[in-house]
Amino acid sequence: MSIDYKGLVEKYGSPLYMYDFDYIENRYRTLKEAFAGKKSLINYAVKANSNLSVIQHLAKLGAGADCVSIGEVRRALDAGVDKYKIIFSGVGKRDDEIEEALKRDILMLNLESEAEMKRVEMVAKALGKEARISIRVNPNIDPQTHPYISTGLHENKFGVEIDMAKRMYIYANKSEYLNPVGIHFHIGSQLTNLDPIKESAMIVADLVRSLRAIKIDIKFFDVGGGIGVVYDDETPIPERAYTEAISEATKGLDVTLLCEPGRYMVANAGAFFTKVLYEKNNDGKRFVIVDGGMNDLIRPSLYNAYHKIEAVGAEGEKTPADVVGPVCESGDFFGKNVPLPPLNHNDIIVVQSAGAYGFTMASNYNTRPKPAEIALQGGTDRLIRRRETYEDQVRLEKEFLE
Ligand code: LLP
Repeated sequence: MSIDYKGLVEKYGSPLYMYDFDYIENRYRTLKEAFAGKKSLINYAVKANSNLSVIQHLAKLGAGADCVSIGEVRRALDAGVDKYKIIFSGVGKRDDEIEEALKRDILMLNLESEAEMKRVEMVAKALGKEARISIRVNPNIDPQTHPYISTGLHENKFGVEIDMAKRMYIYANKSEYLNPVGIHFHIGSQLTNLDPIKESAMIVADLVRSLRAIKIDIKFFDVGGGIGVVYDDETPIPERAYTEAISEATKGLDVTLLCEPGRYMVANAGAFFTKVLYEKNNDGKRFVIVDGGMNDLIRPSLYNAYHKIEAVGAEGEKTPADVVGPVCESGDFFGKNVPLPPLNHNDIIVVQSAGAYGFTMASNYNTRPKPAEIALQGGTDRLIRRRETYEDQVRLEKEFLE
């Protein structure tokens, strides 16, 4: 698809997030089809991109939602996700969040510690309800990804080890207020190697078998998210290989296979557009200063993450430049030594693969308004979040001025 970047920036302003909804639909359908013949549910990980229109788009296709705060649960419901397709995960849930999740009757709460299980039981008891739960098992497998986004080792804060999980299931099964319906693992994000996922699935499936032997019947087998995408030259896991590995591991078990992809659905649907303010040369080092900053897209600063950067329509000999924002931090960059032609004021720079963990990790640092977000679908574009204003930012403070 050829995108009129210049026209879009003229229409909606800069900086700007753009998401290709047709691409998202294609990703959803491809993954769903790879599960053909199996009972499956794709729970989109809302944290990757929680714009209501993005969630709604996926909900219309039949997706569920994986949420990590009651705010995300509310977004999923507001966007039209069926309540029985919503799961609520995360290492720390407040009592009020647990209460609301139970009242809203979502599919299940995913628990990450014994202490949390006891809290959920207490809250459920007070409400006179039975809480459907799953337990996040930490299979102690190295996912071979960036340490900041790897979660499946015992040294990480996530989940509980197998023996503890088993004890928790036995306890939950006896409790009047807990109904253990699911099991879960998530070993990390941006995974490009299938082996650790497969190995984890086998370990967790064995636990399901041993639970079945003591008459604890697990219905949902949740393999988490983490399917890696192409930012640069990565080789992603083929969808079929992924679903077949999971089917193989769960052979003989009558379970619904559930997964929680975030990045897979939206990363490469998105791009971040920013305008060139000016160029500058410090003792031979070339900088391109743009109007977007780390507050808009923090992945390069935070993880040294690579995003492909292109200049639209500019021509001439390419020389390396650091593409940097206006924020008062040395870490405020989108790319280093990016080969770029000579650029002029208002030329457009496109930062690719920005649909996941882009806008959702944006902040107002330096009192910078969050960018607008637009959707492209069937050849048309539309606004799905207006640009923030200064007034939006100070609204919660102004009334307290003396
Ligand atoms: N399920 C659970 C339990 C998770 O913790 C995550 C992501 C997902 C699903 C979705 O993972 P995905 O399919 O998107 O890989 N901010 C980082 C990524 C953090 C991921 C946190 N957990 C980044 O920008 O790379």
